[in-house]
Amino acid sequence: MYSDIDRVLITKEQIALRVRELAAEITNDHRATEGGEAEMTIVPILTGAIIFCGDLIRHIPIAMKIGLMTVSSYPGRSLQTQGSQVIGQQLVNVKGRHAVIIDDILDSGGTIKAVVPVIRALGAQTVKVCVLLRKDRPAAKEVDVDYVGFEIPDEFVVGYGLDYNDLYRNLPDIVTLKAEVTGR
Ligand code: IMP
Ligand code: MG
Repeated sequence: MYSDIDRVLITKEQIALRVRELAAEITNDHRATEGGEAEMTIVPILTGAIIFCGDLIRHIPIAMKIGLMTVSSYPGRSLQTQGSQVIGQQLVNVKGRHAVIIDDILDSGGTIKAVVPVIRALGAQTVKVCVLLRKDRPAAKEVDVDYVGFEIPDEFVVGYGLDYNDLYRNLPDIVTLKAEVTGR
């Protein structure tokens, strides 16, 4: 697994620091609502957001529910989006609540554009979006998001939840892969 890495873009130490900052921002924006009528539901997009979400929410000391959403966009060995589709959801209790959608990376924007209307339609009072990474490409900049961890070059990355062919999610850093691995 490690021998497939080309370069490390973001180290686990950098990620850990930034995750705490993001959690502080989200906490500040939602603290006023705690104990009030509307509370928070965190909605990680499976599968890429699970590691980020797990780390993030442990630094948000506010009552919250978790709802899971599955979106397919980069099946198998895809290096480009094949179009985003919400293919499943579980326990997404957002009615009258403050939803915070969590994703690993903002690329074409298709995933966020597919998920936000679904969460709105389920009756969320507010919908915010938090992505760990945003690629430097016009499509990604055009999508409205509330919290961004890191701006990265328009390259295919894996690690810390992000996969290629469902592998490399457990790498602690965010890295690029050698060309011979992806065949490009
Ligand atoms: P978008 O819908 O094109 O914005 O892409 C978002 C989804 O595609 C993410 O949730 C990832 O699952 C996947 N994705 C986009 N870029 C990459 C990448 O560089 N590496 C791994 N997965 C990616
Ligand atoms: Mg994803």
